[in-house]
Amino acid sequence: MTEQPFPLAGVIGQPVAHSRSPALHGFWLKRAGIRGYYIPMEVSQADLEQAIRTLPKLGFVGVNVTIPHKERALALADVVTDRAALIGAANTLIFRRDGKIHADNTDGYGFMENLRLGAPSWRPEAGPAAVLGAGGAARAVLASLLDAGVGEIRLSNRTRARAEALRAEFGSRVRVFDWVQAGNMLEGVKLLANATSLGMTGKPELRVPLDALEQDAVVTDLVYTPLDTPLLQKARKIGCTTIDGLGMLIHQAVPAFERWFGARPEVDGETRKVLLNA
Ligand code: ATR
Repeated sequence: MTEQPFPLAGVIGQPVAHSRSPALHGFWLKRAGIRGYYIPMEVSQADLEQAIRTLPKLGFVGVNVTIPHKERALALADVVTDRAALIGAANTLIFRRDGKIHADNTDGYGFMENLRLGAPSWRPEAGPAAVLGAGGAARAVLASLLDAGVGEIRLSNRTRARAEALRAEFGSRVRVFDWVQAGNMLEGVKLLANATSLGMTGKPELRVPLDALEQDAVVTDLVYTPLDTPLLQKARKIGCTTIDGLGMLIHQAVPAFERWFGARPEVDGETRKVLLNA
């Protein structure tokens, strides 16, 4: 590998134009005074493998991987962290000096950090958690909650078979509820996480009734456009602690930045502001 004067990183996906990661990493690079660059790269599925093999030769220290490449990137890597294997997808690749591609998934870490800071009194053993959705984001949430020691996760998804598949994989601490009855699973939960795309700008609203939700529950939404989703608004009216999804996006980027550029970025109000304006 040739030594490059400026460390390069980026995000590969298709589409990639919506990604806020370039603004985030670009801000941290500038603030740390590191002369590096973080570049969005539109890469098709057919070109993914070649791109991953070529980027290290061009001076890239690693990349983030987003839709639709997260599973394939994991399969292409030489070394895989336990948490990436558990989630079944990679969001971060590190190009090692020995030429090996190291795959990690920091989404679950980002989710837990956001939760820990947004609801410091929440405890995994406090009671059941409820998760809506069964896509890649839901996998990361399930893996991290189970790892943290949550005893029961109630899971509901429009396509029930996807939720059943997660139950089969993650085990009996996961209980599947029918999508039309998702409201019923909220009784007694201490945490509710929306990992569907419902409520996002341009998507239908999340219509799960919240009547059974008690005010001691923490409610978090992975959707961050808009920042204050209808779900969070309704939960606040009940009296629940609410946590928006922007923090997860920021925190998942911290370990990647540190590995690539050798400095741990600080997550603060200024960082949030940069992302909100991105
Ligand atoms: P991600 O990787 O971000 O999780 P995904 O794999 O496309 O993305 O998952 C999107 C999630 O939002 C899924 O749980 C999806 O439900 P299905 O598995 O039934 O597709 C959910 N979702 C998207 N649109 C929805 C809608 N209109 N009603 C209910 N759920 C929806």
